[in-house]
Order: sequence, then structure tokens, then C-alpha cells
Amino acid sequence: MLNQLTISQLRNIGDLSLQPCSDINLLLGENGSGKTSILEAIHLLTLGRSFRTRSLKNVIQFGEKQFQVTARTETNMPVGLQFDISTGLQIRLNRSPLKKLSDLASQLPLQYISANCHQFFEMGPRFRRQLVDWGVFHVEPSFNFHWQSYKKILQQRNSALKKRKPTTEIKLWDEHLAQHGEQINALRLKYLDRLLNDFCVIFTRLCTGYSSAEFTLKYRAGWPKETNLKESLEAGFERDRSLGYTRAGSHAADWSFRINNADPAEMLSRGQQKLFYIALSMAQGKLSINTSRDKTILLIDDLSSELDMSHQQGVVSELENLPVQCFITSTEMSLQHIVRPEKDKVFHVKQGQIEYPSS
Ligand SMILES: Nc1ncnc2c1ncn2[C@@H]1O[C@H](COP(=O)(O)OP(=O)(O)OP(=O)(O)O)[C@@H](O)[C@H]1O
Ligand SMILES: [Mg+2]
Repeated sequence: MLNQLTISQLRNIGDLSLQPCSDINLLLGENGSGKTSILEAIHLLTLGRSFRTRSLKNVIQFGEKQFQVTARTETNMPVGLQFDISTGLQIRLNRSPLKKLSDLASQLPLQYISANCHQFFEMGPRFRRQLVDWGVFHVEPSFNFHWQSYKKILQQRNSALKKRKPTTEIKLWDEHLAQHGEQINALRLKYLDRLLNDFCVIFTRLCTGYSSAEFTLKYRAGWPKETNLKESLEAGFERDRSLGYTRAGSHAADWSFRINNADPAEMLSRGQQKLFYIALSMAQGKLSINTSRDKTILLIDDLSSELDMSHQQGVVSELENLPVQCFITSTEMSLQHIVRPEKDKVFHVKQGQIEYPSS
């Protein structure tokens, strides 16, 4: 969760400070007013990267040389990020420079829901793996160790395969690769089972037409069901050698949730697809609260696109019961009437400024 957010020289925002509440923060304003830029600033602060560009130079306000974002965490710890054209990116947590971005990510779990999140169904397995791994990372402390070790060993094995090293030198990696891979697999499966449970409850409340549907998990470990990873590496050795890389493993895993044993992408409308992704993110936010030190931040860009007012209302009511801090943007001014005046906050964004906060 974030407090006291300040943003300077970022996109069309010259200098902005806002005091978000711990529940729902609505950012309302016209097209081009700076709403998505505020979400981008929060994303940058927590993850060190933008969801709009790979080059942080593009985030700097035209004509300037640097941008800055600062805030305080739930425990009142100052966190700040600065990007300067000449000196690059600097991140500070509690006034000390941060070496690893993952340290910050574990402090401030964040979920970003884009305006086009209904396109989730068109994304590839890599995106789905990242989504589940985000969740496992925040729920299972040992996951990061296994995943980092797995990645390193996989690189070594692939490099040995590519360089056509002797068989024994390549097989040297198999034992450890399989050990970490099996752990990753078990943690992912356990997490996805829990995620499916929470997801069903939220999704069927948002999308009542599916309240009696059956939801199941379709999961692929990254190697054939009937074997374990060690055996698969063994069996695929000649194939890996001719390909020059390792095919089976946790890096090839995939999953999906099915509705009545069919692919949701083939039956859900666009709005329902958006609700599916939102429900998934909410379920992830709900699960991460049990273990992470800080309240999950949920960024929802352009809630109103694809959703009619009653479904937007459904999303907001669902968020009211979730232990997450939420930032929602919209051009739909009437949304301000559906939030709780005593708990939530509405900010009117105009030309990169907050016009006035009303609580
Ligand atoms: N580097 C930059 N410097 C200054 N202004 C920029 C920069 N990059 C983008 N802009 C402008 O910043 C403004 C804010 O963009 P932003 O995407 O935040 O608007 P928005 O409020 O989310 O609009 P919409 O409702 O259309 O999504 C836009 O007018 C955009 O053209
Ligand atoms: Mg926008």
C-alpha cells in the first residue's frame, strides 16, 4: 500500500502530490488528462519499469532531463525512484539505494490491469506463467530461490548444449535442474488450486450468468504427465542436443481455467473476458494478503471500457470487500457516485494536476 505519492516531470505531470486512501482511489478525468500516467508512476515505483515503454526516456516530460516518483509504504518507509537521462535509474528504499528490484517487488505487491485486459486470452504461455509466478512469489517464500536457481542451471545446460559439449558435461546439470523444477511445479500447482477457488467465487459474483458453471484447472507442468522431470530430461536428451536447447521443464509450463470444460475465450463476451481477468487479479490480490508484508496495490486502467455501468458497479462492490489498495481510472464522471464517500477517495485529474481531492 502507498501513502503520500508525489510525481514530478513524468509525461504531462509537472508536479503532483496526492494522498491516496487505503481502499479505492478513483482517478477521473478527460482523455489525455494524465490518469494512466499516474498509474504508470506507481507501476514504475514498485517494479522499476513502465507498462507503456521499454525506454524510460519516453516517460520523462518533454524538454526535461529526469523524472521522480516518491511515496511511503504502509509501514511509513520512504521509497523513491528517479530516472535521469545521464545517470540512469536510481531506486531508494528507506533512504538506501536498492540493489535488486525484487526486493522492492516483495515489499510492494502490485497488480496492473490494463484497459485491454480482455486480450488476456490472446496472450501466450509466457504471460500466463508470469502471472502465476507473480502469485507464487508473493505467497511462497521459497519460490524465488527455486526459480532463480532453476534459471541459472537451465542457462548453463543450454549453453553446454549449444556448444556441443560432451554428454557427461551436459547431463551434469540434470539432477539439480530436475530438483528445482519439481519444486516449482509443486508450488505452482498448489497456488493455482487455491487461485481457482477464490477466482470462481469472485467471477460468478461479477458475471452472474455463470453462477452454476463448473470451473476447472487445466495444467501442463512442462513435461509429460506420466513421467517426472528427471526422466524427461533423460528421454529427451538426443532431441535437446539436436535443438541446441532444453525443451522440457518448468520454463515450458502452461495453464488455463476452463468453464464447463470449454475454453472461456470461445464463449465469453468481451466484457465478460475483461471481468474474467479482473476476477483473476482480485483473487491473486486476495491470496497475497495472507503472506506479504504489505497490502497489494491494484491498478485498474479505464474500468469503463468494455463494461456497462452495472458491471462497473459490480467490480467496485467486489473491491470494497477485498483487502487491497486500488487505483481506478475512468473518463466516466458518474463513477464518483458509486464509491463510499466515508472510505474511498475521488481525484479529478486535469492537465497533469489533481484539481481537487474530495473524500
Ligand atoms: N513524455 C511526455 N511528456 C509530456 N507529455 C506526454 C509525454 N508522453 C505523453 N504525454 C501526454 O501526456 C498526456 C497524459 O496521458 P495519459 O495517457 O496519462 O492520459 P489519460 O488521462 O490516461 O487519457 P485517456 O483517458 O485517453 O486514457 C497525454 O496528453 C499525452 O499525450
Ligand atoms: Mg488512459
